[in-house]
Amino acid sequence: MSLRGKAVLVTGAGRGIGRAIAVAFAEQGCDVALAARSADELAETAQAVRAHKQRAVECVCDVAEPGEVARMVYEALTALGGIDILVNNAGYACFKPFVDLTLEEWRRTLDVNLTGAFLCTQAVLPSMMARRSGRIINISSVSGLKPIVEQSAYCASKHGLNGLTATLAMELRPYGIAVHAICPGGVDTQFSRDAMPDRDKTNWLLPEDVAHAALYLSMLSPRATTDTLLVRRFDSTPIGG
Ligand SMILES: NC(=O)c1ccc[n+]([C@@H]2O[C@H](COP(=O)([O-])OP(=O)(O)OC[C@H]3O[C@@H](n4cnc5c(N)ncnc54)[C@H](OP(=O)(O)O)[C@@H]3O)[C@@H](O)[C@H]2O)c1
Repeated sequence: MSLRGKAVLVTGAGRGIGRAIAVAFAEQGCDVALAARSADELAETAQAVRAHKQRAVECVCDVAEPGEVARMVYEALTALGGIDILVNNAGYACFKPFVDLTLEEWRRTLDVNLTGAFLCTQAVLPSMMARRSGRIINISSVSGLKPIVEQSAYCASKHGLNGLTATLAMELRPYGIAVHAICPGGVDTQFSRDAMPDRDKTNWLLPEDVAHAALYLSMLSPRATTDTLLVRRFDSTPIGG
């Protein structure tokens, strides 16, 4: 199924997985709206999208701020004339023992990873529902599928995101809107380098591996869907294994 001509909104598109997803959709002939807080990084991603002769719309936005999300989605919808695919990718992590976690760190994790997806999805949904079509891809994590020591807030946010994803898949089915979660294992990005500086990242996934999974979901036939796509390192152990 061709994605040519589709309009895609990617949050957290300034670097890492979000940038790879934005560029992968541009390679397939999509226009892309890009959201993140750092204008400089968004400009670099936009340049990479335009190198594929596709439109890029840069929207500086903190996904945890309702007013900023409303403005960002309005700008994206106005510039692209609609959004066919929303990728909720922006994420935050603070890995430490639960006993040392501050309320501020707990709240920020849930605000960005869970409430951010809530806000962006609610802002985009009316236009998708009116067109009776659309696709929402939430970038979750293996931390949304299993407990990981010293990741309590992050695990809680990603388990919550998986619950939201599955519930929306049922609620939005009558509108022809598909909702999926991608749950990657470790991906070598600034995020994992900051959160897990001591881990050897040899053989970890690259952002392009997650982007490939997002394209796969976007090319599913309308008869088929996939709720949760777990993408792990080839040499890692399957969950439950
Ligand atoms: N790397 C991994 O090992 C891994 C594994 C599984 C899942 N994930 C998930 O993958 C997603 C992307 O992670 P990544 O590894 O690509 O991280 P990354 O390289 O640090 O990139 C994160 C992107 O999100 C943006 N962002 C962060 N907070 C934001 C906010 N409040 N509002 C808007 N944009 C925000 C960042 O830009 P600004 O800072 O400029 O806003 C940046 O563009 C996250 O949801 C993460 O949980 C990552």
